[in-house]
Amino acid sequence: MAESDDRVRRAIDAIRVHVRSESDFGSDAIERAAPRPAPMASTATVVAASPETTITNEPTAPLAPSRVPAPSNEPVATSSAPARPAVDARSPAFVPRVAPLGARLGSAEARAELDRLEADVAACTLCKLHATRTCTVPGEGNASPDLLFIGEGPGEEEDRSGRPFVGRAGELLTKIIGAMGFSRETAHIANIVKCRPPGNRVPEPDEIAACQPYLMRQIVLLKPKLICTLGLPATRTILGITQGIKAVRGREFVWNDIPVIPTFHPAYLLRNPDDKPLVWQDAQTIVRRLVQLGASIPNPDALKKFKDPPPEPSA
Ligand code: URA
Repeated sequence: MAESDDRVRRAIDAIRVHVRSESDFGSDAIERAAPRPAPMASTATVVAASPETTITNEPTAPLAPSRVPAPSNEPVATSSAPARPAVDARSPAFVPRVAPLGARLGSAEARAELDRLEADVAACTLCKLHATRTCTVPGEGNASPDLLFIGEGPGEEEDRSGRPFVGRAGELLTKIIGAMGFSRETAHIANIVKCRPPGNRVPEPDEIAACQPYLMRQIVLLKPKLICTLGLPATRTILGITQGIKAVRGREFVWNDIPVIPTFHPAYLLRNPDDKPLVWQDAQTIVRRLVQLGASIPNPDALKKFKDPPPEPSA
């Protein structure tokens, strides 16, 4: 545990809250490539796969101390917080759009660490979102996944069920994951905040900052081979990029040695179905990269629909 605590601490130190104002995450900003101030600090670089993908977020001025998550904000294994609804609490009226999850995959150690993380999240009162939540939504899926999706935050159906992406956007994400040869069980799905922002508004910077140690701990314990960020808030939180999502989707960045490829959020796709082919392109880029990284695709038959299928793994 001491070593993993240390890794989490280093990850938290390495990633900073790149959100500078609430207007950064206004809903209009999600798909708009507006000019942004230079990030305060960044661990993110873009891998120059082709000339047009060459963007580098060089480390800039160090983060102002007030922006660094305070040690007291770090999740701890025990908490004196009042009891909260259990993670798997479910309203009797709730009918999820996606099938219940099967047994959790992953190493025994990672599953145990994930259980501890989920318990800490369930007891969390670090930001104002705890006061209005029904369930915490820590994430779900493989505890040792090759592929991690990071979305924005729970909506109404997620808040009721304690599961990420189970509403209409979740239904679409589940299809996208399936088309990539994965499933909700074999990949992992998380969010930048673990409690629902009221009215499904975009999470505010203080909420993202309070939840960030949980997200960092989650990434460190999951050890994904690749992260796909869904939409601008998740992409900015991880990478601190200043561009809009249209400028960065489908490109490869690196966060703490882990490749990160952003794409559109599925809720955006529901509103803008004409952009589905772009996400399909990004999905293929991600799978080809995963294969290069030595990941095995749980359902390789799905890849037959790829325009340019990745090579079969050599035996
Ligand atoms: N559901 C989630 O869990 N996250 C999102 O970002 C949207 C819907």
